[in-house]
Amino acid sequence: MADQAGKSESAVPWWQRAVVYQIYPRSFKDSSGNGIGDLQGIIDSLDYLNDGSDASLGVDAIWISPFYPSPMADFGYDVADYCGVDPLFGDLAAFDRLVAEAHRRGIKVIIDWVPNHSSDQHSWFKQSRSSRDNLKRDWYIWRDPKPDGSPPNNWGSFFGGPAWRFDAATGQYYLHQFVPEQPELNWRNPMVKEAMLDTLRFWLDRGVDGFRMDVIALIIKDELLRDNPVNPDAPPDLPDNDLFGRLQQVYNMDQDEVHPILKEIRAVLDEYDERVGIGELWGPLPRWVKYYGEHGDELHLPFNFRLIDIPFDADAIRQSVAEMEAALPPFAWPNYVLGNHDRPRLASRYGGLAQARLGGMLLLTLRGTPTLYYGDEIGLSNGTIPPEMIQDPQGVNLGAHRSRDVCRTPMQWSAAAVAGFSDAEPWLPVSSDYRSRNVAVQREDPGSMLRFYQKLIHCRQSSDALTIGDYQPVPAGGPCLCYYRQHQQEKLLVALNFSGETARLPELDQGQGRVLLSTEMDRSGSVEIDQLTLRPFEGLLIDLSLL
Ligand code: NOJ
Repeated sequence: MADQAGKSESAVPWWQRAVVYQIYPRSFKDSSGNGIGDLQGIIDSLDYLNDGSDASLGVDAIWISPFYPSPMADFGYDVADYCGVDPLFGDLAAFDRLVAEAHRRGIKVIIDWVPNHSSDQHSWFKQSRSSRDNLKRDWYIWRDPKPDGSPPNNWGSFFGGPAWRFDAATGQYYLHQFVPEQPELNWRNPMVKEAMLDTLRFWLDRGVDGFRMDVIALIIKDELLRDNPVNPDAPPDLPDNDLFGRLQQVYNMDQDEVHPILKEIRAVLDEYDERVGIGELWGPLPRWVKYYGEHGDELHLPFNFRLIDIPFDADAIRQSVAEMEAALPPFAWPNYVLGNHDRPRLASRYGGLAQARLGGMLLLTLRGTPTLYYGDEIGLSNGTIPPEMIQDPQGVNLGAHRSRDVCRTPMQWSAAAVAGFSDAEPWLPVSSDYRSRNVAVQREDPGSMLRFYQKLIHCRQSSDALTIGDYQPVPAGGPCLCYYRQHQQEKLLVALNFSGETARLPELDQGQGRVLLSTEMDRSGSVEIDQLTLRPFEGLLIDLSLL
């Protein structure tokens, strides 16, 4: 629960204070009229994100999911050229404009980096598969079939089926833990490592402020590629092709050898000023925490997805935060995520818009860098995608209930046709509520979700207690989660009611506080702390500094 009290203002790196906003570029804003979002669309929306005034969202950084040249087998996570921009999204000049325009507004730019696998259309893989003695053969993971012709081991793909694809022309299998169009790079080959580190430099030289590193724990697998053990707890109703779900993921990810590589990746970031390395990581806390590096010399922020997977419940959240805080080494900075392009929408997961606001207040008041997902600020819920229109390979292969399309529907900008997202038929259908749920409508409504997020982010950004202060939980049970955030003389109370009933707060300070924000946007002014009641799913942010 350490705070940054000892640090001078300037010693706190920007990414510790920042609110990060994830943009899924296909779905954010289409400027070219082809139904698919693009870089110019993002540029056109930068003022919405932060124009320096209280009327904009106020985020400090954007993370843009992949925009590289790609056959789009996994919508950009199959990269055919690590140093380019797919024509669907624009070109390098558009990217340079985006960085310049973002920086002009004080917005940092974080891009996705997909080091575990390329596209099968990458020139490296084309060379690699061309013959067994091609110089790039060893850039990917090729193995002979077993004597009976079956794959080299029992690993399954995240997206269904085996993790190996047989290449008849050269008589070997290659490894792909996602779709077969995503062959896995061989990071044991020093040339692969060097080439990939150079791709980081390419973007750092263009001014990007950091990377979100895709499935970073997968880049090194067991040297012997041993079979994974069967998972005795696998749900009984898995589809037949879900080989991945039936196994424990022991040898295909999170090998100790990933850490020296992460140190090399970090060393590249450290060749530049204040760039941030964020990694996509799951797993038990003791393993997860290692990704900060023994001496804080690996990732700045291993993404913390724990809040997504636990019940929407005060005790569960209090415990998750406590465990994470306790596991962090002193140099490590926490972070939280409540939604992204792989998970059902926050508003749908938590059962309603009041709950979604409460989740937003939680995310933006905990100690650590929050990452928001586009559209959560207007309460987008899961889209309805007819089965025949499912695009996501995970949904196509493993069943509609696993499709990630639901959280990738177009951003709803206005009540105009196609929600102001595009002039053309969008790549995924716009949600049917777009006429009432959109940015334009919510801008005009002082009680809207958007106005709530704007206010919340501005409260956060104008408060050292919320950005860099310490975190002191109130250790009480019951439906309310309460904690203090404090920095020097500034002390705030966050009180969140996770139940659908009116609730009294646990015993807290006596005296007065000043309500800075209610999730309902209808409370302000002084309150007696020991008299406080919270309405169903209400959250309050209260300034206690005057006590
Ligand atoms: C994780 C990404 O978040 C997901 O969208 C993608 O499908 C896989 N990695 C494969 O790159």
